[in-house]
Parts: sequence; C-alpha cells; structure tokens
Amino acid sequence: MKPRIICLFSAALLLAACSRPENVFSIDTAAEGIPVQKTMYGLFYEDINFAADGGLYAEKVMNRSFEYDNPLQGWKTFGKVDVRDDGPFGRCPHYVRLSYAGHPARITGLENSGWFGIGVREGEKYRFSVWARTAGRESSERLAIFLCSPNTGEDVQMFGGAEIEVDSPMWKKYEVVLDSMRTESRAVLRIVLEGSDDFHSTSAVDLEHVSLFPGETFNGDPNGMRKDIAQALADIHPGLLRFPGGCIVEGNVLENRYQWKNSVGPVENRPLNLNRWSYCTFERLFPDYYQSYGIGFYELFRFAEEIGAEPLPVISCGMACQFQNDPAWPVNAPLDELQPYIQDALDLVEFANGPVDSKWGKVRADMGHPAPFGLKYLAIGNEQWGKAYPERLERFVAALRAKYPEIQLVGSSGPYLGGEWFDENWAEMRRLGCDLVDEHFYAPERFFEENADRYDDYPREGPKVFAGEYACHGTEGHKYNHFNAALVEAAFMTGLERNADVVTMSSYAPLLAHTDGWQWRPDLVWFDNLRVMRSESYWVQYLYSNNKGTRVLPLSMEGRPVAGKEGQNGLYASCVVDDATGEFIVKVANLSEEARSIRFDFGGKKFPVCKRTSLHSDGRYDCNTIDSPDLIVPVETSVNPGRDVLGAKTFAVYRFTE
Ligand code: AHR
Repeated sequence: MKPRIICLFSAALLLAACSRPENVFSIDTAAEGIPVQKTMYGLFYEDINFAADGGLYAEKVMNRSFEYDNPLQGWKTFGKVDVRDDGPFGRCPHYVRLSYAGHPARITGLENSGWFGIGVREGEKYRFSVWARTAGRESSERLAIFLCSPNTGEDVQMFGGAEIEVDSPMWKKYEVVLDSMRTESRAVLRIVLEGSDDFHSTSAVDLEHVSLFPGETFNGDPNGMRKDIAQALADIHPGLLRFPGGCIVEGNVLENRYQWKNSVGPVENRPLNLNRWSYCTFERLFPDYYQSYGIGFYELFRFAEEIGAEPLPVISCGMACQFQNDPAWPVNAPLDELQPYIQDALDLVEFANGPVDSKWGKVRADMGHPAPFGLKYLAIGNEQWGKAYPERLERFVAALRAKYPEIQLVGSSGPYLGGEWFDENWAEMRRLGCDLVDEHFYAPERFFEENADRYDDYPREGPKVFAGEYACHGTEGHKYNHFNAALVEAAFMTGLERNADVVTMSSYAPLLAHTDGWQWRPDLVWFDNLRVMRSESYWVQYLYSNNKGTRVLPLSMEGRPVAGKEGQNGLYASCVVDDATGEFIVKVANLSEEARSIRFDFGGKKFPVCKRTSLHSDGRYDCNTIDSPDLIVPVETSVNPGRDVLGAKTFAVYRFTE
C-alpha cells in the first residue's frame, strides 16, 4: 500500500510540476569557482544568557569560591558559618569556616542551589570536590554531602549522599563521587559538618572552591563542558569559533572588560569578574551573574581544536562599551597608557602559539597543551566607532605586524549594518590594512529578504568580511526564535555563500541561552538545567555548515544570481561543489507563499541520485521549545535529480551525486 501512496504522490508532484511555471537554475559546472574557506560558517561564543557559568561550563555550584560581591550569594547557611578572606588562593581569597553550632542537636552547614537549581540525572555520577582543612583542633572532621530535592512532598528528600573526612590542618583538595538516584532539574547541594565522634565546641572546618561536576563532560575534560550543549555545537562542524564576545570583551567600564590572562591557570585562582549582562534593563536583572572564568581562554582554544574550528579570540582595544558610556566620560584607556592592552594582545599570540619555554607558551604547556594551538586570527575591539577606535587600533596593528606578521587581524565596522559610523570604520580598516572587517546586523525580516545581494558588489580588493554577528530580529512582537526568522536567514545566507571570495567568515549571534536566565533573544541554542533545544536558526546554520562544499559555482536564473529579486518568484539559491566527494550541493530558500517548480540545469551533466533535506513549518511563527524541541527539524527525502517542486516557505539543501 505504502509504495503506491508514494507513487501517487510522486505522480501528483510531477503533475503539479508540469502545471507550474518552471524556475530553471543554471549551474556552471565548468567554472573555476570560488574556494570556500574553512572559516565560512562558524560560531560566536559569548557569556550572555548564562552561556558559560550555568550553561556550557559543566560546573554546578554557583559562587563556588565565595568571591561574589556578596560572598554568600547563591548559598544558604545554617548553624555557624563565617566568611573569611585569607584563603590559599591569592586571587580568590575568600572561604567559609563551618564551626560547632553551639548545641549538639544544632546543625552547621550550607547549601547551594546552582543556577536556577542543580540539574542531576538518575543513574549518573557527580564529582564533588572541595579544598578544605581542619580549623579547630588536631583531629579529623567529617563532612556529609548530599543532593536534595526542593520538593518537600517527597518521602525522601536527600539522595546521592557521601562523606568526606577532612584530616589535615593544611589545605588539601578532597574528592568524592555522588551517585544520583533521581532526576531533578532543581536539586540543591547540601554540605553538613558532622564533626567527629567526640564532636564538640572546637570542631571547625574551612572550605574553599566547592565544586560539583557531572562524571561525564564533553571529551571527558575534568574542568569540562556540558556534554549535551557542547555536542549540539560540535554537530554544526563549525569552521570558526569566535570568543569571548561581544560586549563582554569591552566591559561596562575597562575594569570589567574580559582579561584573558585572568582566565588561564588553575581554576581555583582565576579572579571573578562581574558579567556586564547582569544588568541591562529593569526587566532583566541578574545580580548573581558573574564570570568565574571556569571556561577561560585555554578551554576555548581546546574546544575550538576539539570541534575542528579555527579559534578567533577578540580582545579589548582599550575602549569600554560605547553604548553604556557617555563619550565625555573618561572611559577609554589614554593613548599613552595603551601599552598594557597591546602587550595583552602580543602575549595572547605567545600563549596560543609560543614555544613551551616562552613565558606564555609555558603557561599553556603547564595547563596540559604543549603543542601550539595554531592561532591564525585575532580581532581587536568589538563594536567600536568614532575617532578613538582607529587611533588605538593603529597601535595594535603596528605592534602585531612587527612581531607576528602571520596573524590575520580583524577590525570592526561598528554596531550597525550601514551608515556613517560603518562607512567611517570601513575606510579606517582599509587604511590600517586590516585583513578582515567584522560586520554586525541584527535586523528585521525585510533586511534579510532584500539583501541577499548585499555582497555582490563589494570591492574584491582590501579586507574581507567577517559577518560576525547576525540574526533576524522579527518585528511586530516576533523578536524571538521562530521558523520565519530562520527561513529569511537561510535566504540571506545564499548571498554570503555566493560571495565566498568576499565573506570568508560568518557567525550567527548570540549562541546560547538559558531558558530561565536570558537577556537577549533570539539565540541559536537554548537549554535548561537538563535539556537542550536546537532552534530553527540552529538547523539553518547546521545545514549550511555541513554542506559547505569546497568551491562556489555560479548559479543563475535567466542570467542573474538568484537573490529573491523581481521576477525570481521569492527564490534564493546558491551552489557549491564538494571536490572531495564530487557532489554538487544547491541550497534553495523559497520565501513565497506558493510551491515553486525548479529545474536544475547542470549544462548537460546528469545525476542519478538527488537527496533533498528540507526545513519547513506550516506556521510562520512556529518554533521549537524546550518541552518540544523537535517540532521543526530537517527532513531528508530522495527526489528527482532533474527537477523538484519546493514547497512554499521552505529551505532545502539538494545534494546531487553521480
Ligand atoms: O550578541 C549580543 C551582543 O550584540 C554582543 O555582545 C554585541 O557585540 C552586540 O551588540
């Protein structure tokens, strides 16, 4: 019965195709084509929306080193708990002392509820660790560790218990594995001072850097990343990883700019930084949003390497966020005080690529990676504009060119996709000889619909384009992830691909968002404490990156590129060939309300097989959610290799195989 249905269906399609005007896509298979750079489709990682602590970083304890402005933020204490500040880690000096509560029946301890709770799964193991010492007397003291359910309706609230015997007055790291017997998305971690058999008034234990990690992390790294989130990113097979932002690079003021040197070395001694996204609007205040730097530059370089992406660090150019500061305020590093910033840039290249006997190469080697990371690109400044930017950038460029002429430098075109600041910055980037210019466009649907030809007329000489932050921000109350936003992004991206000789890097932004703690949307991947949701825009990035081929070939309809222009019936298209497999790959977005009949003309070349992977939803504003993450996912079908009817409002990738 089934094949017959398919047969009838195919016949119906064929009939439909015959009755529709045909859109003929001519592909010039003999053309030399444009090489597609490895970096063409990448990821933009920034610690916004709890992307790092509480997100990609697998650590489950918030404020583990008691370094937040309120040292007990995130902690509930009971009995006698005091905060002290002469701990073993100079850049994170705080710790807590747990002492006898004054009566044998009273309990001393503390409890951490992570970020929006602690997510644990039944049957999985969790590595608890703590730096501790006995503080009262010569004997050892016991600590009881538990996971607890906040649900008071349960018979048993505590699970996964274990004990630690703190047996020395010297600071030591203690570790124990907790076996979770339950799945909870909002568990808490409880630590109780049990004392010793003769528990009495002088019992006391000091605790520092309290940590809980899943037994399994991405690639098994003990200071690692959440496996499910990292895997979603890895599945894109991005050719580029830009980090660590974004505005986070700049800081609201220079003091809380991202300083990469604070993010390397032992995690216990990485100083805390306030996250500038902790406050952006009255509506979205997150006073407990800091950066522990647990995922620091070393981890990000490693992650880039593990997922096969070129690392692209962005560093401060000595200017704090211009959106959050009045130009009249003294927020920029004066020119005669810029040297430490420039030195940070030079040292970063040494950290990434330097020999193990160089100062910063040794730091990398001591952390476990003696081989260089092979850094090729460095961006200086994020969304900067005005005279102050090129004045500073010029000095960075001179110093970097002199010492590391092989490193490609990325400058910024400012925060907007066009206009005075954009034009001025572009002119300056050319003058300074930057290799790439970072363009940002968070724009409404229309921009994406109308600008698939944006790069067709860009100069072919001079800096290349890094489309470093972009996303469709839907209008009329639709500024969130939905199918239509993804569809117009897909249409626009045919223009990035067609112009792969000008646009050599791109990345959607932002990348990650916690459903309970976001400051900005739309975002590519959403998560809560246990689950991950890949948005429709994620699938567009996934389809482009996993089908990027090696050379772009000219594809035209009636002699013109297919960019959704008049007479093109709402169609957008681009073509690449994959020289490794010999496959031809055509990407088509149909933004119209009607199905379109398409004929593929490869100039006489015939293919026996064609697979179509399409992304579609009947509802324009339909979206995947954390509870229903797979409503809109790519669907693969075999189709007629010569012609197809592509449904209305659909993005499709066709792979033609000989
Ligand atoms: O992606 C979110 C923010 O948008 C980035 O931090 C910034 O560069 C841009 O304004």
